[in-house]
Amino acid sequence: MAGKPVIHLAQFLTHSPSYHSLGMWRHPKTDYQSTPWNRPQLYEHIARTCERGLFDMIFFADLNYIADTYTGSLDPALRYATQAPEHDPIPLVSWLGAVTERIGIAATFSTSNQHPFFAARLWATLDHMTNGRAGWNVVTSINRNQQANYGVDRAPTDQRYDQAHEFMEVCRKLWESWDEDAIVMDKANAIFANPSKVHRIEHEGRFFKSRGPLNVVRSPQNGPAILQAGTSPKGQDFAAKYADAIFAIQPRRENAKEYRDAIRSRSETFLRNPNHCAVLFGAQPIIGQSRAHAEELQEQHNELVPLEAGLTILSAHLDFDLSGIPLEAKMAEREEPELHRMRTRFLNPDGSSMTLAEVAARHGQSVGLPQFVGTAESVAEQMIDFFDYVGGDGFMLTAIHTPGAIEQFVDEVVPIFQRAGRFRKSYEGKTQRDLLRQTI
Ligand SMILES: Cc1cc2nc3c(=O)[nH]c(=O)nc-3n(C[C@H](O)[C@H](O)[C@H](O)COP(=O)(O)O)c2cc1C
Repeated sequence: MAGKPVIHLAQFLTHSPSYHSLGMWRHPKTDYQSTPWNRPQLYEHIARTCERGLFDMIFFADLNYIADTYTGSLDPALRYATQAPEHDPIPLVSWLGAVTERIGIAATFSTSNQHPFFAARLWATLDHMTNGRAGWNVVTSINRNQQANYGVDRAPTDQRYDQAHEFMEVCRKLWESWDEDAIVMDKANAIFANPSKVHRIEHEGRFFKSRGPLNVVRSPQNGPAILQAGTSPKGQDFAAKYADAIFAIQPRRENAKEYRDAIRSRSETFLRNPNHCAVLFGAQPIIGQSRAHAEELQEQHNELVPLEAGLTILSAHLDFDLSGIPLEAKMAEREEPELHRMRTRFLNPDGSSMTLAEVAARHGQSVGLPQFVGTAESVAEQMIDFFDYVGGDGFMLTAIHTPGAIEQFVDEVVPIFQRAGRFRKSYEGKTQRDLLRQTI
């Protein structure tokens, strides 16, 4: 019988010096001298910490470019480390799979620049290597800098998603191309696999052709768990159709509820159980010994992010050069179509519009994630309130420094969630998908 939904927790990471906070690499508590950001030991420590905290997953975002979107120059991205550099997270997935037992390990891979056969093979292999704990964040890549690195033009949104749908369909067919009982390993009769249980897929579509079968046997989750973060109507459809979990950035709980409700109803139209598509909302906890101390920590962190750094990363994420817009412009009232995708991130708690300067500052500090600030008790309470208002399903957390911030959340906030009966006390099930569906 289904129990009470648990709060699901994912830890947001990138294989780079700053995650969702551009102040992170400069933070006095961040120590890349002893634990460099470009060596796996840092992520090993984080993965083990999050596993100790019984998180559903650690999650690596990824991009394949250094953005010149703001002002047409690479200088600000390099100067402020706005997701530049960013190393490939995929090799970390197998490393981290080897040093953890239960936690899901997810990374981002785009459907825009590779063939689905390559992706299906890679992710089936990672699912084997992690014993069913792999998660693939499927992105379509909206920034022109990425397409230029692969020598192509950026496709319009509709086409990006049409191609992504076909990409997923090809991957699914390839993952299905080995029946569960295809491996016989009959030594006496010299039969390794039963040929009648391995199938060609003969896919010929608008964007891709693939003959199959895959040369990877069926993996524990039959392909990885699928994660997504679409916001456009096409993106939401894609997420509702395929995703086991969705990452959303909705600072206002009213918008968060609307988003989650929309995803659930879209998922029903695809004849899916809406409880099989967990929506995780971005959150940046800042925890102090008292309210005043936490506010001091918040100010100390936020001041580390120059306004120009915020403008640089916001321009990159919108794929739109904001240098032509006055800093005092009301962002939610702008007419440029490129700005509509993030409209709900431009709103103050009372629904009024933030200025460009305010939006950019917040984007640099947290990529627009709400900061939950206070003592551990207060942060837990704020998060539970948000969760209850929205109806589920959990949070994608981002840190303001490393080491320290993730450890503090695990040691101080997780036990409060557990005492409140809102969080798992042990892992149940084996796979990433099992954890995302776990109830208590
Ligand atoms: C929390 C979150 C994480 C994301 N991570 C990535 C990423 O790692 N790489 C990427 O190319 N896009 C990433 N995106 C962008 C989304 O894939 C998507 O393009 C964006 O939300 C716009 O949605 P749309 O394509 O439906 O308009 C992320 C978005 C969100 C909200």
